[in-house]
Amino acid sequence: MLGIFSMKDEIRFPENFVWGSATAGHQIEGDNIHSSNWHREQAEHYPEPSGKACNFWNLWKEDFALLDELGHKMFRMSIEWSRIEPEEGRHDEEALKRYLAMFEELKRRGCRLCLTLHHFSHPQWFEEKGEFCRRDNIGYFLRHLEYLVPKIAPYVDLWNIFNEFNNGDSLELYDRKANCLVAHARAAALIRSWSKAPISTAHAMCPYQPRDPEDEFDVTRTRIRNWVINDFFYHAIRTGEILFPYRDGEVIDGLKHSCDFWSINYYTRHFVTARTADGNAPRYECHRIRPINREFYLEEFYPQGLVDGLCKLRDLPIYITENGFCCDDDRLRILYLARHLQALAEAIERSCDVRGYLYWSLFDNYEWGSFVPRFGMVGVDFKTFRRTPKPTAYFYREIIRNNAMSRELLLDYLPEFRDWIIYPADQGGRP
Ligand code: BGC
Repeated sequence: MLGIFSMKDEIRFPENFVWGSATAGHQIEGDNIHSSNWHREQAEHYPEPSGKACNFWNLWKEDFALLDELGHKMFRMSIEWSRIEPEEGRHDEEALKRYLAMFEELKRRGCRLCLTLHHFSHPQWFEEKGEFCRRDNIGYFLRHLEYLVPKIAPYVDLWNIFNEFNNGDSLELYDRKANCLVAHARAAALIRSWSKAPISTAHAMCPYQPRDPEDEFDVTRTRIRNWVINDFFYHAIRTGEILFPYRDGEVIDGLKHSCDFWSINYYTRHFVTARTADGNAPRYECHRIRPINREFYLEEFYPQGLVDGLCKLRDLPIYITENGFCCDDDRLRILYLARHLQALAEAIERSCDVRGYLYWSLFDNYEWGSFVPRFGMVGVDFKTFRRTPKPTAYFYREIIRNNAMSRELLLDYLPEFRDWIIYPADQGGRP
């Protein structure tokens, strides 16, 4: 008997567990013309620029009605700095007003707001100054936050200062990562003077494993990668010390304990080899998705990585601020979601204080250079901007309603898997 996975009758989540979804401004808003990403898309003649993206900038009201209908209780979105301050020192009050109207509407619908202040994109003028690669530039970000935070603080339930500056494994990036840590610490102090809501920075939790676990060079290269991508961040937040190989260590005031929770984005594992300069070894792939600008493999399901990773983070509450799958066959998305919620429940059973889960992403959106990878539980027609919820959206709504996921629910959505599910031995083996 081929087992897709073994599943209990029902998996329940803790009381007050928060369910929702995540997005990012540049990927959904459209016409983000003052941002560094927009500029790059034009300057480098991207075959698929972001353009109108999901046209969320105009359709947000309808989108929040849909969000409500689908039962989401928290929404992660970002505020685009380049809309607020399109030119250095000039603020666009209309743009701010629109964001405030969005936040009001979320509140009116009883949906909590997880707000990211920097999700990869920033104003082009800031990019031209060298963005976060230069420590001197942190002041521009803080000046922006001094303007913004007092106005938005009353609406925010969870703060993400940055999204995923931890990614990337090269010496040149260490200074940038260090600068982002410093910016994170200073921003956290600033936010704390205006808001009691918990603060963090979203961390891409990527489990790295050696291509050959018996090869000491692969193992050493993997340890280094795990350090420079994952562990440097936890270490810095726990101790205040910034530590990278081949770089003097530094201790930063205010960095220690500058996160109130771990904000974890999780997708899958990756393999590392000592035998290429970039260290990347091939991943397991399911099938290929081919955006115009790059090879993109549909990623392997590796829910165990979520359990193992979370078990190292028992010192603070945890929110999963991204987890999702891109595919055209929505059944795979349902399966991915079910497998990862099961992993989450296991982590909770093993004493990880997980408080919420935000699926990436509410919509199909602009995946940084292409519209081809579809992560959404709501499909988007990028010509008409019509939204169509996929079966995953209704599957997820049932989970939210029940605060639980049952085997029957899964089989209702994936009846073809009935013969492939293994029933745990303590529930009588196969029925
Ligand atoms: C990023 C998102 C991105 C997603 C899927 C995450 O690392 O935060 O912006 O769309 O991965 O690739």
